[in-house]
Amino acid sequence: MTHTTTTSKATIGTRHFLSVREASDTDLGRVFDTAFSLRDERNAGKPNAPILAGKTLGMFFEKPSLRTRVSFEQGMIELGGHAIVLGQDEVGLGKRESVADFTRVMNGMVHGIAARVYKHAHLVEMAEHATVPVINMLSDLAHPAQALADAMTLMDEFGRDLSGKHVVFVGDGNNVARSLAMVCGRLGAAFTLASPPDYALEQAFADRVMAQCPGMDLTMTHDPKQAVRYADAVYADTFVSMGDEHEHDDRHAAFQGFQVNDELMSCAPDHAIVMHCLPAHRREEITDEIMDGPRSRVFPQSHNRLHAQKGLLAVLMG
Ligand code: CP
Ligand code: NVA
Repeated sequence: MTHTTTTSKATIGTRHFLSVREASDTDLGRVFDTAFSLRDERNAGKPNAPILAGKTLGMFFEKPSLRTRVSFEQGMIELGGHAIVLGQDEVGLGKRESVADFTRVMNGMVHGIAARVYKHAHLVEMAEHATVPVINMLSDLAHPAQALADAMTLMDEFGRDLSGKHVVFVGDGNNVARSLAMVCGRLGAAFTLASPPDYALEQAFADRVMAQCPGMDLTMTHDPKQAVRYADAVYADTFVSMGDEHEHDDRHAAFQGFQVNDELMSCAPDHAIVMHCLPAHRREEITDEIMDGPRSRVFPQSHNRLHAQKGLLAVLMG
C-alpha cells in the first residue's frame, strides 16, 4: 500500500492500494491472513466481527462492474460498514468536477475511496489529495484487487507457499496481466505471458517487476502451446478490455490462436487449472468446455473477490 508522505496534500500514514507493487510484504501478508480467516468464519456460518462499524466506503465507477462492485459493497456490509456507489453520470469526474475537488469533498464525508477509472493517473491524483485510503478497483494500468483474489485462488489450489508455481496468462498484456505478474513475483511464482507480438507487457513494466522481484522467472512468448507445457495455472481474460472497444476487429484478428480451449489445455500438465477474471466472452478467449469443465476454478475465483476485498478493507480501514 502506498504510504503518502506529502504533508500539504495528504495525512502522513494514509495508506492507498493503487497497485500490488506499492504494497509492503507485511501488508500483503496481513490482507491474505485476514481474508482467509474472515472466509473461514463466514463458511462456518458465523458472522464476521463488525470491524468497520460506522465506516463508509465511497465507490466511484467510470466503467461497468459486477464482481468488483458486489464484492466491495457486500464486503463493507459483512464487516459492519456501509458503501455509497456513484457513477460517472452523476459525478462527471474531470468534467463536472476536477479529480482533486472530488477527492477533497470525499475526504470529509467517507472513510475510504474506491474508484474504477479509465486513466490510472486519476487514481494517482486522488491519492495525492486524499486523507482517507484510495483503492484501485481497476484502471487502464492495473487491477490489483483482482490480483488478491487470484492469489487466494492459487493458494486454495497449491497452498499458501506459491514459490515454484507457474502461472501462464494467455492473451493481452493488460491491466489484469500486469497485476497478476506482479503478485506472482511477490509471492515467488513464475509468470509467463503468451500474447501476440503487439500485445506483450511493456519492457518498462517488466523491468519494474524484475526490479522489485529479483530472480523472478518472468517470460514473454508468442507461442501459447509451448507456454502452457509447464503451467500450474492457465489464465484467460478478454481480448478487448473496457476502453479498447474501437480496436475490436484488429484485436480479434491478432488474437486468433490464443483461445483457451481443449486443444491448448491438452498441451498443459494434467493438474493445470484454468482461471479467468470474468466477465468471460465465451467462445472468444475461452470455450464453454473449459469454463464449465473440471479444470475451471473460475467461479470460486470470482467468490474469492469478496474475501480478498474484505481482507483489504479490514487492513486499510479497520
Ligand atoms: N473481474 C472483474 O473486475 O469483474 P467486474 O468488471 O464485473 O467488476
Ligand atoms: N481487462 C478487462 C478486465 C475486466 C475485469 C478490462 O479491463 O476490461
